Amino acid sequence: MTGTQTRIVLARLPQGVPVVEDFTAETVPIPQPGEGSFLARTVLLSLDPYVRSAIAGRHPGHAASSPGDLVPGRGVARVIESRHAGFAEGELLVVETGWQEFLVSDGRNARLVDVRMAPASTALGVLGMPGLTAWAGITSLAAVRPGETVVVSAAAGAVGSAAGQIARIGGARVVGIAGSREKCALATGTCGLHACVNYRQEGWQAELRRATDGSVHVYFDNVGGPILDAVMDLLAPGGRVVLCGLIGQYNTGVPLTVPLASIIKRRARLMGLVVYDHEHLFPEYLATASAWVRDGRMRYVEDRAIGLEAAPAAFHRLMTGANVGKSIVVVTPEDPDA
Ligand SMILES: NC(=O)c1ccc[n+]([C@@H]2O[C@H](COP(=O)([O-])OP(=O)(O)OC[C@H]3O[C@@H](n4cnc5c(N)ncnc54)[C@H](OP(=O)(O)O)[C@@H]3O)[C@@H](O)[C@H]2O)c1
Repeated sequence: MTGTQTRIVLARLPQGVPVVEDFTAETVPIPQPGEGSFLARTVLLSLDPYVRSAIAGRHPGHAASSPGDLVPGRGVARVIESRHAGFAEGELLVVETGWQEFLVSDGRNARLVDVRMAPASTALGVLGMPGLTAWAGITSLAAVRPGETVVVSAAAGAVGSAAGQIARIGGARVVGIAGSREKCALATGTCGLHACVNYRQEGWQAELRRATDGSVHVYFDNVGGPILDAVMDLLAPGGRVVLCGLIGQYNTGVPLTVPLASIIKRRARLMGLVVYDHEHLFPEYLATASAWVRDGRMRYVEDRAIGLEAAPAAFHRLMTGANVGKSIVVVTPEDPDA
C-alpha cells in the first residue's frame, strides 16, 4: 500500500500535565513492511496513564522521548499486508501502534483479538492490560476473601472499575472512591459496588469511614497522595494495600510519601504492582472475565474520542481526570470492529 498517513508527534516535552499544544500532527509516507513484518491500520488507540511516564523515560522499555518523536501507545490494528508467517491479512491484533494511522511491526508483543469473545475495544480495557492489572492486584497480590471490605480509588476508571467488580464478584464488600457524582453513580450503578465516596465533596473522609465501618481489609490504590493517606488511616489490623498507580502525583513533581506511622500501627502490608510481572495470568483472566462480560456480571464503560487528531485532547482529559471509563480513540471509525 502506498500513500500518506497522519501521525501525532511531540511538539515539545510536556511540563506537568500534558496539554494539546505539546503535540502536533504530521503527514508522512505509509511505511512498507519488509520480510518478517506486516503493515497494519490502527482501528482503536488506547490512552493510558503510563504514556506520560513513557514520554518522560520513566517506564520500562521506553527511552525518554524528544520533540519530533512519535507518541508511544498500544491499540487494536488490522493487518493489511503481511510478510510475516505468523500474521495474516485481515487479522485484528493488540499491538504497539503509536499515535499513527498505519504501522509496520515484527509482531513483538502482538496478541490476536477474537471479536467472537467480546467487542474489539475490550481488548484495550476490561479484557486487556487494565483488566489484568486489576485481576493480579485483587486475586494474586491481595488475595481478597469473601466478606472482606475492599476500597478502590479511581473506581470509575479502566483499572478501578475492573478491580471493584472482580472483588465484588469474589464476595467482598466494595467501596469505591471517585472524583464526581457521575463517576460514583457509575461505580454503584453500572459496576454494582456497595458504596462510592466522591472525594471532591467536603466531608468525604467521614463518609468513607461510615461506608467502611472504619475497617478496610484491602485497599487497591490507583492515585496515591491524600486519598492513600486517608484510607491508610482506616486499615484493619494486618490490612493489605496494593500500590497500583500514583496518578494524583504523576504531573506534580511533589515527592511521593506513604504514611509510615499508619503502616506500623495497622501492621499493614504494602505491595507494589507491575502488570508485566503477571502476564502468565492472562489466559486464566481472559477466560474468566470474558464469560463475566458476556453474562453481564462484569460491565465496562468507555470514554471514546473520534479521529486520531482528537488524541491529544483526550489524553489531556485522561491526565486531568475528566475521562469516565476506559479512554479510547477511534482512529478508523469505518472499520466494522471499531
Ligand atoms: N501498576 C501497573 O502495572 C499499572 C497498570 C495499569 C495502570 N496503572 C495505574 O492505574 C491507575 C489507573 O489507570 P487507568 O488506565 O485505569 O486510568 P483511569 O482510572 O481510567 O483514569 C485515570 C483516573 O485517575 C483519577 N485521578 C486521580 N487523581 C488524578 C489527577 N491528579 N489527575 C488525573 N486523574 C486523576 C481520575 O479519576 P477520579 O476523578 O475518580 O479521581 C481519572 O479518571 C493509574 O495510576 C495508572 O498509572 C498501573
